[in-house]
Amino acid sequence: MEQFDWKNLPFGYIKTDFNIRCKFKDGKWGELEVSDSEYIDIHIAATGLHYGQEAFEGMKAYMGKDGKIRVFRWGENAKRLISSAEGVKMAPVPVELFKEAVFRAVYLNKRFVPPFGSGASLYIRPLLYGSGAEVGVKPASEYTFIVFVTPVGPYFKGGIKPVNMMICRDVDRAAPLGTGTFKVGGNYAASLRAIVKAKDEGYGSTIFLDAREKKYIDECGPANFFGIKDNCYITPKSESILNSITNMSLIEIAQSIGMKTERRRIPVEELSTFEEAGACGTAAVISPINKIVDPDVNKIYEYCKDGKPGAATLKLYNKLVGIQNGDVADEFGWMTEVE
Ligand SMILES: Cc1ncc(COP(=O)(O)O)c(C=O)c1O
Repeated sequence: MEQFDWKNLPFGYIKTDFNIRCKFKDGKWGELEVSDSEYIDIHIAATGLHYGQEAFEGMKAYMGKDGKIRVFRWGENAKRLISSAEGVKMAPVPVELFKEAVFRAVYLNKRFVPPFGSGASLYIRPLLYGSGAEVGVKPASEYTFIVFVTPVGPYFKGGIKPVNMMICRDVDRAAPLGTGTFKVGGNYAASLRAIVKAKDEGYGSTIFLDAREKKYIDECGPANFFGIKDNCYITPKSESILNSITNMSLIEIAQSIGMKTERRRIPVEELSTFEEAGACGTAAVISPINKIVDPDVNKIYEYCKDGKPGAATLKLYNKLVGIQNGDVADEFGWMTEVE
């Protein structure tokens, strides 16, 4: 078997042994199939290719201290994929089918689950797309569901190392009544100009403002935003952001450690009042924000002293990662063992 440098894994694709596939045809889902190919045969007129009729999920499996592999909150990802499917008029993947495909993909690739303590994990990527042929703009009548896995290190390099973010005012990721709340590829294509610009200028990612008024914080590239002040965890309410499962979990963790929580609109000017700020998501876990630069109005908001994350951010991070790695009791019942 390949020797991986588990502690220095990139957030990228590494080939594993198997992936799981399932087709929706004639109004019903077929049997799950196991494949060892990294490729798919796709019709040249598939709606997934032409009209962006596709959705995906991102979730992780972790190796516990006890040598058991556990998946974090898979039921929430299953629900979100159903919501995304409905959002772009695809056949939804039933929860039980989703569970079976995810757990089988992890089990068959268990040798790729990074060891406890490495800081790496097994990223799980469920994917659903319109595979039926159409030329007019309408939903396909056939769909393909795939689950592949790949071992990953942290998305923002350096684990809990703070990152710098840039506010982007000249690109919108999603419209208020558009598809921003769904995890569909089109939102990511729309975000690329801003993300590439931020990266080219040396930032970890971009912060999108609300598309309607450019007054409120939406989200941070592929992660949700949170700010902390006066022992309160504050995160944006918006009709155009992805409802992050990590963020939902951090709200519960914050309450469990005696913090207040608020989900509401966050005006850009409020950035100057936060004691700490961060980006959160499956890939990002928690990436503390060192500073946010708003180049168009010449403003800089700084959060970290000596490049170190704040105390509240660290507490939230340690409890979340502790639960995921089986180091801290799973008081919320979020982890499901892979058997
Ligand atoms: C746009 C966007 N926002 C937020 C998140 C975080 O969501 P989750 O915590 O469910 O991974 C993601 C995915 O990681 C994302 O792609």
